[in-house]
Amino acid sequence: MARRKQIYEGKAKILFEGPEPGTLIQYFKDDATAFNNQKHEVLEGKGVLNNRISEYIFQGIERIGIPTHFIRRLNMREQVVRQVEIIPLEVVVRNVAAGTMVKRLGLKEGDALPRPVVEFYLKDDKLGDPLVTEDHITAFAWANPQEMDDIVSMTLRINDFLSGLFAAVGIRLVDFKLEFGRQYEGDLMRIILADEISPDSCRLWDMETNYILDKDRFRKDLGGLTDAYREVATRLGILKENEKLDTKGPVLVSSNEEK
Ligand code: TMP
Ligand code: ASP
Repeated sequence: MARRKQIYEGKAKILFEGPEPGTLIQYFKDDATAFNNQKHEVLEGKGVLNNRISEYIFQGIERIGIPTHFIRRLNMREQVVRQVEIIPLEVVVRNVAAGTMVKRLGLKEGDALPRPVVEFYLKDDKLGDPLVTEDHITAFAWANPQEMDDIVSMTLRINDFLSGLFAAVGIRLVDFKLEFGRQYEGDLMRIILADEISPDSCRLWDMETNYILDKDRFRKDLGGLTDAYREVATRLGILKENEKLDTKGPVLVSSNEEK
């Protein structure tokens, strides 16, 4: 196979040139990072599980009529996605108090919020992804007001859809993070959902026991991260009980090749 050109390498994924114009290949790494890369570990199998979970969730979101970058899964670690211009925001939705919201506002972890709360963080590692307001976003033209309306309405629909999807398998969707991008087709532009939705980007608690089934297992040194992700995939029906996954998938020889 011809060597593919690498377009971008992030902390948990790599983007390569795609098979058709306007497409990219999204490769899921096993790397886990937290606290802006201060903590880093390679957890074998994480990328394979996130590829499958994100595929399943994006297909469900497409089915309810929200456009996404997902086209098809290529193999255990890779999917073909539409190329977009990423809007430099992390859009976080919270249903239950946890994480930075607990620290910032002095809430009690685990308390249900009066209604879902949407927050925006500027994607800028040097600044540590600061919380920003819609006024910052439109004033600095990271996104315009019409784009923000689209983003917020899609985000709330995705929250309703995912809350139900997870509740049906005994999992509480505490909070999660979305990224959106602009897709250009001739003179037309539309906002579509991009990036991934996986236990790396969500807080997922077992409804009965509050057992943590997401990346907080790594952030808080709880261990058992890939078993928890496997549990999420199994409950969603993506993996069969005791199904063995070839968690290695294609392995990168060097992720810096042709950078
Ligand atoms: P937070 O409580 O740390 O602000 O995180 C809120 C949600 O966003 C949580 O589900 C984890 C997710 N998240 C990411 O996906 N990437 C990030 O870089 C951070 C900080 C949070
Ligand atoms: N992914 C982010 C980082 O490395 C933060 C996080 O998810 O906690 O640093």
